[in-house]
Amino acid sequence: MSSPATATGFPVVDPSVHAAWLPDAALAPLGSRRVAVVVPDGGAPDVVAQTVRDEVAAATAAHGGAVVDPQQAGTADVVLAVRASTGAPAGAPAGSAAADPEAFTLTRALGMVTVTATTSHGLLHGLFHLVRLGEHAFTDPDGTWTHAPTTALRMLDHWDNVAVHPVMGQVERGYSGGSIFYDDGQVRADLTRVAQYSRLLAASGINRVAINNVNVGPRESLLLTDDLDEVARIAAAFRPYGIRTHLSVSWASPVRLGGLTTSDPLDEDVRAWWRAAADRVWATIPDFGGFVVKADSEGQPGPFAYGRSHADGANMLAAAVAPHGGLVHWRAFVYDHTQDWRDRKTDRARAAYDHFAPHDGEFADNVIVQIKHGPLDFQVREAVSPAIAALPRTRLAAEFQVTTEYLGHQKHAVYLGRMWSELLRFPYWGEGSATMADVAAGRHPESDGTGGDGTRAGGFAAVSNVGDDVFWTGHPFAQANLYAWGRLTWDPTLDPIGILDEWVSLTFPGADPRVRETVHAVLDESWETYERYTAPLGVCFMVKPHTHYGPDPDGYEYSPWGTYHFADRDGVGVDRTRATGTGFTGQYPAPWRDVYESLETVPDELLLFFHHVPYGHVLRSGKTVIQHVYDTHFEGLERVHAAVEAWQAAADAFPPDVAERVTERFAEQVRSATDWRDVVNTYFFRKSGIPDAAGRTIY
Ligand code: GCU
Repeated sequence: MSSPATATGFPVVDPSVHAAWLPDAALAPLGSRRVAVVVPDGGAPDVVAQTVRDEVAAATAAHGGAVVDPQQAGTADVVLAVRASTGAPAGAPAGSAAADPEAFTLTRALGMVTVTATTSHGLLHGLFHLVRLGEHAFTDPDGTWTHAPTTALRMLDHWDNVAVHPVMGQVERGYSGGSIFYDDGQVRADLTRVAQYSRLLAASGINRVAINNVNVGPRESLLLTDDLDEVARIAAAFRPYGIRTHLSVSWASPVRLGGLTTSDPLDEDVRAWWRAAADRVWATIPDFGGFVVKADSEGQPGPFAYGRSHADGANMLAAAVAPHGGLVHWRAFVYDHTQDWRDRKTDRARAAYDHFAPHDGEFADNVIVQIKHGPLDFQVREAVSPAIAALPRTRLAAEFQVTTEYLGHQKHAVYLGRMWSELLRFPYWGEGSATMADVAAGRHPESDGTGGDGTRAGGFAAVSNVGDDVFWTGHPFAQANLYAWGRLTWDPTLDPIGILDEWVSLTFPGADPRVRETVHAVLDESWETYERYTAPLGVCFMVKPHTHYGPDPDGYEYSPWGTYHFADRDGVGVDRTRATGTGFTGQYPAPWRDVYESLETVPDELLLFFHHVPYGHVLRSGKTVIQHVYDTHFEGLERVHAAVEAWQAAADAFPPDVAERVTERFAEQVRSATDWRDVVNTYFFRKSGIPDAAGRTIY
């Protein structure tokens, strides 16, 4: 017996906006079947369970299937059920996949597909897993599979400002239009896009979102107090998809908002102010996630002003949010941004480790120290952050950037799945050892036991690339980065090219096969292509100051920001060795401290990150540094031209709106990549006086 689909207005979808990886057709395989949703009633109303019901009702109504009454579940093609036990092997130990509240088990047997989970959150992930599998969910061989996330903390950070910032705009480092949350100094009245976004995020695996910029201006500070009801509206848009809301808060809030004369973390009035602020937040939003803090960083206030440590600062906030089960994401992006470029001893790369490693073990249980994946700033190629290995008794989150601040502003087609995968799999203690992802999941090998079982994970955070652009991400292909980020936070061992393939299947269901081929031709190696035509061999930056778009090799060379390459007529690179340089290599555990120290063993791609060498230095590849620069820059642009050719041959196979936008972006990528090639080659030719062995044109 079937009951008619009930139209509840969910899922919320604005048809004028690109559907990204959840177009209607992606739900056809599920929606064309007879589906029962079995969720125990009683107890508190469960909005996530209702979302699963609504998704199934909408999909079956759209695609000719039917909602089957739970009593008749035995007659359905698909059963989605919350059960006390998922049918996975009995007695699953705590911490095992089957015991994870977001886990689900899929069983295909005798013509029926069953997805079971112990919570509605797990069931929602299971539903989207079915969507991802498409027809395969029903036609592949029988079996049982349990899926669980590697960590419960899978977050996106929005650097959105409520009020348009005079320099940084509405979304700091945003390349996709305005904010989906704010407009004209206010939270938007219509949050349809936020609801639609939450659905996309849930379908990729994300479960937490911080909704405002880490640089918290005066207007943005008010989200914590006067605007709490508005924040609650945003949280309500995320809640049906199991996503919890976090806020970035200003360290100076007690002064700015509370009228106190100090923000000293050890001051009793300050502590009381934060406790009261947190009490109000959770009274308004009971499932609120917590606070993100950028303190003593790039001009943001922090505990240093009061002679207190970052552990003092973070723990004070942690105490305020702890009664509510809240978290404090405390960023480790603390360095001297007023450095004298003449000073070759101070090394910005050392900063996170130097500031935080001495405080390992001091941070409260609900503090997560959030560390950028590299020691500088989201460069196309930099070493991994040694700080991530250096705090075994601290919960750590690895921070990434989905928005492409240094990787082409979503004007260049650059797929980041490969880069992130390489970083997440980086074995900090040598081949086969624990990886960056393991540490983030709470499995640091030197942990004292408190973090060793994965329960004290810090997880993953990344800066979102979404705005109010009709494609969400400016470049339609940059949607793949957002999708990949969610998938990799759920399972960092996934193959990033496989993820891209999933994205194609979902985003362009039933498309001409040329669509898949072209996306792979354009994106699979696009990270390496971008690296080839921009800053070489891990030297970093060389971008235009402020915007961080386009080439300017000396743009930051004589600046206070601590990002130098030291190119002169003889050579280039930063000596970060223990023997003769800044000693940064000593922050790594073995074997890397020695691998990076030695010119014999340092990987070519990171040579200039760790060493200052003459232009004639021969790489392990057999080429000189200068010839490598020339060759990669010519080749990088050629690879862009090849991508454009592949694109042009198949553009007609894509939806016309996508084709138009991608074509327009490619024109800019070619222009910009040409600029990069010629500026970087010319720069090094003029510095070194060494001609290109192949005699190509350099200016
Ligand atoms: C970079 C970026 C800033 C941002 C900062 C951060 O430096 O350019 O816009 O505020 O990172 O991560 O806090």
